[in-house]
Amino acid sequence: MTDLTFVHITDLHISTQDVEGEMLLGDTTAVLKRTFSEIRRMNPAPQFIVASGDLTNRGDAASYEILKSVIAAEAPDVPLFLALGNHDSREGFCAAYPDLHGDPSKPYDHDAVTGGLHVIVMDSSVPRQIGGYWEEGQIDWLKARLAAHLDLPKLLVMHHAPMVDPSRPDLAWESLSESATEALRETIAGHNVIGILSGHVHLDRVSHWYGVPVFIGAGHHAATDPLDLSEHMDMLDGTGFAIGTARPSGLTVTYVPHPQKRELRHRLEFEVIRQHLAAMDAAE
Ligand SMILES: [Fe+2]
Repeated sequence: MTDLTFVHITDLHISTQDVEGEMLLGDTTAVLKRTFSEIRRMNPAPQFIVASGDLTNRGDAASYEILKSVIAAEAPDVPLFLALGNHDSREGFCAAYPDLHGDPSKPYDHDAVTGGLHVIVMDSSVPRQIGGYWEEGQIDWLKARLAAHLDLPKLLVMHHAPMVDPSRPDLAWESLSESATEALRETIAGHNVIGILSGHVHLDRVSHWYGVPVFIGAGHHAATDPLDLSEHMDMLDGTGFAIGTARPSGLTVTYVPHPQKRELRHRLEFEVIRQHLAAMDAAE
């Protein structure tokens, strides 16, 4: 395998601008156009782009149409691999991309070989849930894909990163659930997985997780302030993307932050999320 350059974008949160109470904290369409213009300046150019979910802010058809038109007009002509996140809807995505995914009752899992790398994209979103986990059959699908192209390194893409701190079950909404994390760990053990690319929590973060690097990108919406995440989450202005370089030695990810003033856009109290999750549990 020769050196391979790619781009990781995430949490695009593309939206129409006319919805009240939607908590859209910035002009995400402008950010996507900016990122594509920067990607077009890259030398070496990327061989592919992955987008790890929250493609739209609320999963509606009009927002997916905006996404499609920006991609058609601005994206460089390289493969673009799309993952779904908790803000997406399978119905909306299938309507916009019927050639990619035809059955909204099923998660959108897919894979491709490109440039000597085996890219495996999994749908960790669960309809109407904030956190992520696997539906029936997804781990079996992953096992089958890992068994293919055994000579190639694997790059995994999923909106929700593995849970790295099981001592905070109250924060399970930030990641894959503990059981989904464990299933993933068992499944990929012994395989040449050079990295996992994720989003969801809107900050640049690298974890070394049972020997596998997990790269989370801040994304295109608003940046989580990492300084105090004890009881609330402050969302600041701030966006960016990341450049990945896969080499025989492993994976390097270089973050490309856009200029940021660190202005507060919104404070999300964890207690509000806990009440929301409790209400969802009670409704089940
Ligand atoms: Fe997001």
